[in-house]
Amino acid sequence: MEKIAVTLTVNGRERQALVPPRMLLSDFIRQELALPGTHVGCEHGVCGSCNVLVDGAAVRSCLMFAVQLDGANLTTVEGFGGAGELHPIQQAFWEEHGLQCGFCTPGMLAAASELLARTPDPTDAEIREAIAGNLCRCTGYEYIINAIRAAGSKLRAPEVEITAEPV
Ligand code: FES
Ligand code: FES
Repeated sequence: MEKIAVTLTVNGRERQALVPPRMLLSDFIRQELALPGTHVGCEHGVCGSCNVLVDGAAVRSCLMFAVQLDGANLTTVEGFGGAGELHPIQQAFWEEHGLQCGFCTPGMLAAASELLARTPDPTDAEIREAIAGNLCRCTGYEYIINAIRAAGSKLRAPEVEITAEPV
């Protein structure tokens, strides 16, 4: 089958690839881009573990084809934070015990990121609604909700001012 050329930005870097027209985005991410942090659970759009950010929106990568990403900006969990540094949302999940086995976590981070970008100070009801499509078998959700609330606080906090050294 003829492959199709796609160009997209992946975690801040431009990538080009030739992909079969029916290759799922989740397979493309894990196999072609070699980014295994995107987890695949149900493979039919129910669990949310495969969520990634496409142009800032949390989408289920098992329900999209890779060719749909031509020209898009893709962020996977590997694109959160920097070298040796957690993103504030990841830090909040760490501090608030928002994960146990971690299987659902990449998808939760994507959902949280989309929510906090459009609603910086969400209510608990808004947090619950934002992660309503993400299943977690471990935490009971309360710690995840606490983590997203805490992440919002971190992201809203003003930058620490760097003052000049006294002379
Ligand atoms: Fe995509 Fe479950 S693996 S929603
Ligand atoms: Fe295990 Fe959510 S932490 S599934």
